[in-house]
Amino acid sequence: MTDQTLLLANISQLVTVSQSRELCKRGPGMRELNIIRDGAVVIQGDAIAWVGHTSELPAGFREDASKTIDCSGKTVLPGLVDCHTHFVFGGSREAEFAKRCEGMSYAEIAAAGGGIKSSMRATRDLSYEELLDIGRVHLDQMLLLGTTTVEGKSGYGLDLETEVKMLSVMADLHDTHSATVIPTFLGAHAVPDGISRSRYLSIVLEEMIPQVVDQRLANFCDVFCDDGAFTVDEARFVLNHAKQFGLTPKLHTDQFASIGGCGLAVEVGAVSADHLDAIRLRDIELLAANDIAGVLLPGCILFLGLSNYAPARRMIDSELPVALSTDFNPGSCNIRSLPIIMSIACTMMRMHPYEAIAACTLNGAYALGMSEQIGSIEPGKKADLTIFNAENALQITYQFGCNLVNTVVKNGHAVVRDGHLL
Ligand code: NIG
Ligand code: FE
Repeated sequence: MTDQTLLLANISQLVTVSQSRELCKRGPGMRELNIIRDGAVVIQGDAIAWVGHTSELPAGFREDASKTIDCSGKTVLPGLVDCHTHFVFGGSREAEFAKRCEGMSYAEIAAAGGGIKSSMRATRDLSYEELLDIGRVHLDQMLLLGTTTVEGKSGYGLDLETEVKMLSVMADLHDTHSATVIPTFLGAHAVPDGISRSRYLSIVLEEMIPQVVDQRLANFCDVFCDDGAFTVDEARFVLNHAKQFGLTPKLHTDQFASIGGCGLAVEVGAVSADHLDAIRLRDIELLAANDIAGVLLPGCILFLGLSNYAPARRMIDSELPVALSTDFNPGSCNIRSLPIIMSIACTMMRMHPYEAIAACTLNGAYALGMSEQIGSIEPGKKADLTIFNAENALQITYQFGCNLVNTVVKNGHAVVRDGHLL
């Protein structure tokens, strides 16, 4: 069977993000997105075959096209990559949100039995099928907002059975949903009640990691390494063990305090260090020098009513590959929209809209070790593209909170059209 040819033509602004097969964007390069006016993209099967000006489209491609999407007045971006989420969970924490609005802090709520542990109880209570349905709804919503690849973490089970249940749900969704789901094991998210820290960590090491790897349920292992969470020594222990089992380290760190998580990220060869709101300047240089992606989650700061946004400008000036992500989760950030995150990054961290786009596409892919396959619109890469109802790319961050997504193409097929799932 010959591959179907899909043509996107007359694109008002085609934002390829890169044209040199670079693995990530850094420094001034972050705002050089290679924007082609009146652009066209040819897709053959699930891959991008040609990119350029509509007027220069080779005749053969036009004749071969079994379907053409007219993108007049529209802007096309690579499918958005959400490289840090917790989208599979039970329950809902709007009552905590209301308490925070009255002045209670995230830490106080957690200490009173809420927070991660309340989501843990709700996630344990759900059947596999119920959790699958919830995860599917979240992925549908994210796809409608232009996200084609979603990393998802476990960490609301905190026992072997439920951690495996969460990761199995993600594997199921990866196979059955249009979005790509990249699973991360986050057993070291919190210590459940009724068990000592050391006992829990030995379960993570001796029971959970071997089982997760045996069932091929995760690519990455993450640890919440911060003040009030796991220490650097504990995180080192977990991540080195996970590495021996073939999992690639990631870290939640420097969200509340700088306790040495960035140094650990370098030591264990993490692919990314995430949050970084409290990062020290020398750790920015350290991450940059070691090619570790800095994943910023400004939605979390906004949603928690805080103001200590990560020093994105300093990071970009230091050539750190900066990625942005939603951190979508039921507690600290109930935001599913990457375009909203991009807008927040622009207004609150002074990122340029083009930098924000790079951070949610190529650099998001880099934070997942996937930037050879996705994250830019270049021949040979996967045909994941999002078409926005926008004359130009700047509209996407400017039209705050408005879903401009018209069409989503995933693996060469339209999966959202006119803002609706197909
Ligand atoms: O990334 N920092 C730790 N974990 C999540 C929050 C989880 C929760 O509150 O449920 C985060 O912000
Ligand atoms: Fe997180």
